[in-house]
Amino acid sequence: MTTFQKGQTNYDLFAPEFLFNPYPLYKQIRCEDPVYFYEKGGLWLLTRYQDVEAAFQDQRLSSNRSPLFARQLHDLDFSIIQNFTFLMANMMLESDQPQHTALRKIALPGFAARALESWRSIIQETTDSLLDQVEAQHTMDIVADLSLQLPSLVITKIFGVPEEYRQDFIQWGKDIANFWGVSGSDNIEAIARNADTAAASFTTAIKNLIAERQQQPGTDMISLLIAAYSDNEMSLDVLPSLCIDILVGGYVGITDLIPNGVNALLNHPQELQRLKENPELINSAVEEIIRFDTPGTQSLRIAKENLTIGGKEIPAGSVVALVIAAANYDPEKFDNPEVFNITRSPNEHLGFGKGAHFCIGAVLARMELTICFSTLLRRMPNLTFDPNSAPIPRRSTLAFKGFESLRVTF
Ligand code: HEM
Repeated sequence: MTTFQKGQTNYDLFAPEFLFNPYPLYKQIRCEDPVYFYEKGGLWLLTRYQDVEAAFQDQRLSSNRSPLFARQLHDLDFSIIQNFTFLMANMMLESDQPQHTALRKIALPGFAARALESWRSIIQETTDSLLDQVEAQHTMDIVADLSLQLPSLVITKIFGVPEEYRQDFIQWGKDIANFWGVSGSDNIEAIARNADTAAASFTTAIKNLIAERQQQPGTDMISLLIAAYSDNEMSLDVLPSLCIDILVGGYVGITDLIPNGVNALLNHPQELQRLKENPELINSAVEEIIRFDTPGTQSLRIAKENLTIGGKEIPAGSVVALVIAAANYDPEKFDNPEVFNITRSPNEHLGFGKGAHFCIGAVLARMELTICFSTLLRRMPNLTFDPNSAPIPRRSTLAFKGFESLRVTF
């Protein structure tokens, strides 16, 4: 385990060992300076469970992060992201009350229980067909062969995107998310221009899909959302913003959770064995995987006014990072937080956030993860790390914790 100097105040959040395993450093920050101003990044880090939980519900903290997009561009002209900005302007995730409440109300029918149940078979069939492709090889890369494909295929199928356009939708989502989630990069102009081109292409394509579904409604999520927008007399011009929100939300977290979960299970053989012998523990195992190694390690907010948190004065306009990964390991909230325990109860992790912006896709995400891990363990019960290829964790960003590659044999 990496050790850090006691009392050190310039914690190195971009050290390669931290990006690989942030938990020891978060523990140190939580103990020494739980509301910490990270000067290099220009943001406040909240690392205690009670502070992160409260901040998620604090309306003095804004989810409108557009000032951060401007800040990322430095002295570049803001007009290079005009299509991107338009798409973001009506996005639920980026809005505050009362706009957020209105947008969320008409998004909910897209996640109705009956609709979710009807998509269960899409998830199962897609998982099985991806595993069919690698079964005979007795080896696979959990990232390339499964996790990069499953959630993106599932969300585009649920949207009813025709097969020939699915990869385009995913690529646009990735290009947009790249600028959205970026935290400082040398080639920011290229990333910004890519995101803007993707935003323009996505908007045109999704508007075409919306027009088709208006003519011929189906059981897909876009049709359900069109109906909800019409019932609420909301202009369909803002529907593309919700669609990109759901598209990106629908694959980013799950793409990383699948390898993070496989890694956690293979590193804890007793827990893996317990799950194999008691498949009914899958729901609580999924919750523990989300707590233990969550992919969205932090959520950013902007202070609308001067605040005091944990005795620290936080000026209006400050960027505040709600560090979910640190809160999920807070011993004030979780017994033995460093222990991976698939029957942990209670397990009130903050992996899906809390409050008004609580993940709208949580039920779908849980369903997808449950089916994915159950199917993997049922079909490949001898799953183990590939002795010839060490896992390659992502070391490039603070925002998304996952793997570049995780090879297994079975
Ligand atoms: C099918 C999968 C998913 C979909 C469709 C989805 C979609 C969304 C959407 C649209 C929001 C914004 C809600 C709002 O602003 O009211 C959201 C919020 C959130 N989601 Fe998800 N999500 C999915 C999976 C996940 C996963 C796997 C995680 C991580 C474990 C996750 C973590 C979060 C968090 C932390 C928030 C709150 C963000 C904030 O308040 O800043 N989501 N999700």
